[in-house]
Amino acid sequence: MSESGAYRRAYDAAATDPETFWLDAARAVDWESAPTRALDSTTPPFYRWFPGGTLNTCVNALDRHVAAGAGDRVALIHDSAMTGARVSFTYAELLATVSRFAGVLAAHGVRTGDRVVLYMPMIPEAVVAMLACARLGAVHSVVFGGFAAKELAARIDDADPVVVVTATGGLEPGRTVDYVTPVAAALEMSTATPRAVIVRTRPEVSIETPATWLDWDLEMETAEPADPVTVAATDPLYILYTSGTTGKPKGVVRDNGGHAVALTWSMRNIYDVGPGQVMWTASDVGWVVGHSYIVYGPLFAGATTVLYEGKPVGTPDAGAFWRVIADYGVRALFTAPTALRAIRKVDPDAALLDEYDVSSLETLFVAGERLDPDTFAWASRILGKPVVDHWWQTETGWAICANLRGLEAMPIKSGSPTVPVPGFRVGVLDASGAAVPENTEGNIVLELPLPPGTLTGLWNDDERFVKSYLDAFDGHYLTGDSGYVDADGYVYVLGRTDDVINVAGHRLSTGSIEAVVASHPAVAECAVIGIHDETKGQRPSAYVVLKSGVSIDEDTLRAELVAAVRADIGAVATFRDVTVVQALPKTRSGKILRKTMRQMADGTEVVVPSTIEDASVLDALAAVFRT
Ligand code: COA
Ligand code: AMP
Repeated sequence: MSESGAYRRAYDAAATDPETFWLDAARAVDWESAPTRALDSTTPPFYRWFPGGTLNTCVNALDRHVAAGAGDRVALIHDSAMTGARVSFTYAELLATVSRFAGVLAAHGVRTGDRVVLYMPMIPEAVVAMLACARLGAVHSVVFGGFAAKELAARIDDADPVVVVTATGGLEPGRTVDYVTPVAAALEMSTATPRAVIVRTRPEVSIETPATWLDWDLEMETAEPADPVTVAATDPLYILYTSGTTGKPKGVVRDNGGHAVALTWSMRNIYDVGPGQVMWTASDVGWVVGHSYIVYGPLFAGATTVLYEGKPVGTPDAGAFWRVIADYGVRALFTAPTALRAIRKVDPDAALLDEYDVSSLETLFVAGERLDPDTFAWASRILGKPVVDHWWQTETGWAICANLRGLEAMPIKSGSPTVPVPGFRVGVLDASGAAVPENTEGNIVLELPLPPGTLTGLWNDDERFVKSYLDAFDGHYLTGDSGYVDADGYVYVLGRTDDVINVAGHRLSTGSIEAVVASHPAVAECAVIGIHDETKGQRPSAYVVLKSGVSIDEDTLRAELVAAVRADIGAVATFRDVTVVQALPKTRSGKILRKTMRQMADGTEVVVPSTIEDASVLDALAAVFRT
């Protein structure tokens, strides 16, 4: 499989002697008090990394580089295709700004362990606020700006923040997105009572803010910079809510120590990015990819990170990505396959690429959804550089499987995110829990304990953590993905086994969309499934049975349901498809056969369960899917 053996040695070392492997990796982190033990496994299935170690995450991201004389190195470049702004911060400048904003938060009562909810567009203040929380040992919870008030309220309720930080709005092609109204509405709906709301007024989005909200700039003028607070390695750094099978989002909890060790290790060994080199992760700070590789990973490594506001196409054109690579000498670009498909759609021959010098680019990394072979072939051909798929989840915080370009580059196989990253022990099990032979599809699981940097649990919900991930197969974490491993040990990830879908690299729960659709007065019942979408990979599609006696024009119903999903979940749901059907396929006990519907929609082999109540319903549905 490989030539130098560095991967095999690292993988075996992490598997057979994790104590030595991870304590060794921990030496790359600045500790206040260095850990003498790697893993605390005294209370399985809850594992903790680096017990006894103390540190500050912001110190590792900023202070240590300034102290080492790299204060003049560029830490953060903000490039907004929406406003034309291009601003950069050196490590010293970013440290000064973060310390001051930490002072603002402290002045409003934020203490170690307190939560701060951030609802921010892609502006430097988002990064500043995250790092300021880390500086105080407070726990940030960033909510993606494409979520509507109700989703925001659910997260505010669960996290119970002391402060909420926001901006007047975001900029999407062709429109400004008002953030003030959803934040105000969410606070109204929520039972939480934050002591302050701090708002960054963007000149491009002038929206009046409630009189009680505090202005970012005014607060900063009078703030005293705050010193870093030392926390335990096992203390939480952030909560990031993600979609599960039910409507209620899961609050994935990340620690400080394991996170710093894992991401620092990944920067050199996976991404091959070091001090002064430029990494651009074209994602959003509201997603895990943004947390790990717009903010923390590159800064831990002393690298330069690019925070880009805009889309890959139409801002101004499909050359936007190539322009950013050329302008900043980007060495590693990380994006989602959907962004490449969007570029390909408007510039299939990548004619715009010829206008830019992208020779600095060493590797294009992609994740967030399966990299389809067509997109892989296209991107490889136009760039002439390695296109590296890697597979991970909000829960894991970093890659489970990757081609570890820094440790040992491996041959790339189309359709596979390559091999398990050292520390992740991947298995493929059938429904009974038995390991399946190679090249056989099954449930992808990870042997416990998971490596550092992975979730320590769900916020305030140990029971759901165990039930969602650990109950299915004893001693294993259930990824929720199915796939197989080939004879070379390459892992292939085929898709989710649950009702989670991936729309344009954004993870959504069909259950939460169903809940909104089902609440329409004309709807008796409904099923929402993910169907194939040429650009976005998947999109949600609703199949609706009307209440008897109700007559409503299908276009009117569609418009009302689209508006309701947009209002309750947000634009990010990309919900447009509504089809009225006579009946939904169900088991005799009344469970809707969503998997069978998915198979019919995908055109894959339809396995009709023997428990089906009325198989003739499938014939009517088949006609619907054919159109
Ligand atoms: N705030 C407010 N609204 C947002 C938003 C934000 N932060 N992000 C997206 N939206 C809105 C969009 O404006 C759009 O609204 P519309 O229905 O009125 O057009 C809707 O949510 C859907 O957005 P999106 O799925 O992003 O579609 P798009 O057509 O605007 O762009 C892509 C499509 C593929 C170009 C874009 O999704 C993309 O670049 N994806 C990469 C995602 C990614 O990096 N994921 C992280 C994993 S690596
Ligand atoms: P998220 O938590 O939003 O990062 O979404 C995680 C899910 O996205 C995974 O469980 C997979 O279903 C999917 N996913 C992420 N990366 C990949 C990949 N490289 N290949 C296939 N699926 C992926």
